Amino acid sequence: MTLPHQTPKPYVTTGMGNVNSFSRRTASVHICKKDGKDRILHMVPMYDLKREYLADRQRYLDLFDGVCTDAAFSDGKYVRAFESAFAARFGDGFFAAALGSGTDALFLTLTALDVGPGDEVIVPSATFTATPGAVKMTGARPVFADCDPDTWQIDPAHVSSLITGRTKAAIGVHLYGNPFDAPALRRITDAAGIPLIEDCAQSFGAELNGVRTGCFGAAACFSFYPTKNLGAFGEGGAVLSRDRALAERVGFLKKHAKTEDGDHPVLGYNMRMSGLQGAFLCRKLEGTDAFLARKRAIAGQYLAAVGDSPVLVPQALVPGSLPSYHLFVLKTDDREAFRRFMADRGVETAVQYPVPCHLQGVFADGSRLPVTEELFRRAVSVPIYPYLTDAETASVADALQAYCRERQ
Ligand SMILES: Cc1ncc(COP(=O)(O)O)c(C=O)c1O
Repeated sequence: MTLPHQTPKPYVTTGMGNVNSFSRRTASVHICKKDGKDRILHMVPMYDLKREYLADRQRYLDLFDGVCTDAAFSDGKYVRAFESAFAARFGDGFFAAALGSGTDALFLTLTALDVGPGDEVIVPSATFTATPGAVKMTGARPVFADCDPDTWQIDPAHVSSLITGRTKAAIGVHLYGNPFDAPALRRITDAAGIPLIEDCAQSFGAELNGVRTGCFGAAACFSFYPTKNLGAFGEGGAVLSRDRALAERVGFLKKHAKTEDGDHPVLGYNMRMSGLQGAFLCRKLEGTDAFLARKRAIAGQYLAAVGDSPVLVPQALVPGSLPSYHLFVLKTDDREAFRRFMADRGVETAVQYPVPCHLQGVFADGSRLPVTEELFRRAVSVPIYPYLTDAETASVADALQAYCRERQ
């Protein structure tokens, strides 16, 4: 895999936007006012996903040709190959079921574990809406845990206090790509006799005490959404487990729950991975170590730039973590002022989750989680896409340093 560090060619020119609209346009130029005059800046984008494709275009075109020539469009041999390669990355004795998305992975894991109406599943509120959303899709109730004030990860002590006779499982999320304290949470779930599910949608490539995230729970759920550390050219997800029966159950449910004799004994779903994504992901899996190393190097520059400034505080790592930096998130003193400052220096920023899950209309249950709420008021992320050029990462680091100096 080539990671081009030179300045990219200028692309379509548009203004700032929310990161959620990145797929509809490519922001590379930003116009801002300085001393009453328009100034044109090269905008450092949160993502520019076509760079990865363009760096290895012919390989991807060849893969496209292979899948189409084999007509292996849905599931099929390319997806089988990806499942094997993906599971092997975690060591012997793992099984993977490739799916249409990370949400499918969470939903089918819960379904395979017989979670349903009347059950409760403990989840952090500091996560993407899909984590509690998958619980709700099963008919069970998500019960929200607060997070640790420094690591921003699920607080095991709070989880412990939320367990009732109706608790059927707990889901820990490796937030922003960095590991939560899975062994601590596992001790609590084991004592309660419930499975721990790892939501690894953001943490492909992260480790804790030399163990890859995804290896701590009864099952782990991955997303291959294009912005993820292992991103498809479309949607994708997977369940990983040492429990062969669980992985096979997920594989059965994802294909309409059809038995060999053509019966459908339970309700099944169409949550298959497409053959193209299987082929692309197999290829991308080969390059992930370079991709992750580049992200860690970029994070190192940003961490050096903010130092121990009290105005921009990065996520603290659980001891023993090897982070994967899906995102680089900072807790700011004044989020809007920070975002304006960065925009004026040509750096796009994003607020990933403006509303904590427990306050979202679909889940609001009257609970208040002060640590999560404070984090969500102040958190903002800066670009850490591995295809950023050296010049772009330097300009992000310079802007971070300048902000800290100015506000201190
Ligand atoms: C923590 C978390 N869980 C689950 C998901 C859902 O993954 P997908 O978008 O592939 O359905 C995401 C996606 O962003 C996520 O960040």
